[in-house]
Amino acid sequence: MLPLAFYNPASTFTGIDSSQAELGRARLGAECLGLENIQFILKDVRDLGPADLAPSDYVIAHGLYSWVPADAREAILAYCGDSLKPNGLAYISYNAQPGWAIRGLVREALMRDRTVREAPVEEKARRAIALAGRLIEDLPSQDYAHAVLLAEELERVRDGKPFYVFHEYLAEVNEGFWLRDFVEDARRHALDYVCDAQFCRWEGHVPSELRAALAQRALDYVEQEEAADLLGDRYFRASILCRADARRSDTTHQEILEEVYIATSLGAVSDPFDLREGVVEQFEGQGIAGKEPPTITIDASITKAAVVLLSAQWPFGLLLDALCAKATEMLTTNGCEVLAGVRLQLGNDLCTLFEAGQVDFCLWEPAHQAEILEYPQAHALARFEAEHREALTTPYHLPIPFEPGAMAFVRDLDGSRSREELRQAFGAELVDQTLPILSRWGLLENATPGIKGSAWKH
Ligand SMILES: C[S@@+](CC[C@H](N)C(=O)[O-])C[C@H]1O[C@@H](n2cnc3c(N)ncnc32)[C@H](O)[C@@H]1O
Repeated sequence: MLPLAFYNPASTFTGIDSSQAELGRARLGAECLGLENIQFILKDVRDLGPADLAPSDYVIAHGLYSWVPADAREAILAYCGDSLKPNGLAYISYNAQPGWAIRGLVREALMRDRTVREAPVEEKARRAIALAGRLIEDLPSQDYAHAVLLAEELERVRDGKPFYVFHEYLAEVNEGFWLRDFVEDARRHALDYVCDAQFCRWEGHVPSELRAALAQRALDYVEQEEAADLLGDRYFRASILCRADARRSDTTHQEILEEVYIATSLGAVSDPFDLREGVVEQFEGQGIAGKEPPTITIDASITKAAVVLLSAQWPFGLLLDALCAKATEMLTTNGCEVLAGVRLQLGNDLCTLFEAGQVDFCLWEPAHQAEILEYPQAHALARFEAEHREALTTPYHLPIPFEPGAMAFVRDLDGSRSREELRQAFGAELVDQTLPILSRWGLLENATPGIKGSAWKH
């Protein structure tokens, strides 16, 4: 919540948690950052009363719903139902069936093991990690389907960080839900299902052919989603709810495309780069923190030109008309044929890239300047996170991981030293590599008051 409050000073935020320690850390963060738009309530969700309700545009419950007992889940839904404004949205993430089935099985096996069961609480995760390693070695064969599934899940434990392993596999409560059950519970609290927030993440991406095939069957929206979950082995959901009486309209991505700034950080990999129609070019995509960035291939010349243009001006975007005109001009300048229907082709490709999480659609342009000042300064949040976390959160709420050396540099980047002085202190290579990344991701304080106040919609 701290990055949200930092980047959106015109909005107010309330954090609710039953843990004194967690709220203590959050309060300290808010104090360090001088945030005046954030407040905290130390309470169990089950004890929230009318005095704790504030009409809200958004309610976010991340990493909570699956981990609390049924009465607390009811309380979360009741809170959303009671506090959302008429057009408000709630985001609730949870472990989803059917993918949860195999994770739940491994969780049970780990919890049943005597070495884990009898270990003191601070030792349990380490014992579970060791056990997972042994079990993988003991698997008699990976030639059958169950072993493949099991091995994949056990590797996740073996390679996981202890706090994650504890939270996911050893926490007292952890349950997975089918979408329909979740939606029915939400409906009992005068809420309704809108969509999922993570449709563009790999665990929620439904290929367009499957989407089309499911649309042919006599299924309602939730049934279609559940069928896709089954076929795609979905194990996590971040569902968006609205009030049951909210005014709804079915806007397609194509319609949204006409209104938004389109931006992307996709970078062309090939050098030289071939713009000609049908020639496949590779782009390095935006990965999830800790994972290798995906490779994206594009062969339509109009889309290749558009992505190259957008990448050069990231994080600033362009409206579709301007983008199409510029991309067409680029093709002409480079002697490439401009085919009929390029605008439609570009629109379709951009929607596909958006659904794959590689393109942002934004209602506003970011307010920060990309220029690197002579006396560069990382903004307060970046310096705070460089001290307390392993990643820096961008205005687009993406955590960007940095090496420890770069984090030490960011901690010290308070505007008191010139670029040359910084090179001498931290080495030219580190400084020259890190400053453009900080600038590109909106993590520098600029002469023109920056990102604060920018409002982005993904
Ligand atoms: C996994 S953390 C997620 C925190 C935060 N939403 C995030 O994404 O970083 C779960 C948090 O829920 C809190 N929590 C668990 N049960 C709760 C309850 N019944 N009422 C209020 N908070 C609870 C825990 O103290 C913990 O801080």
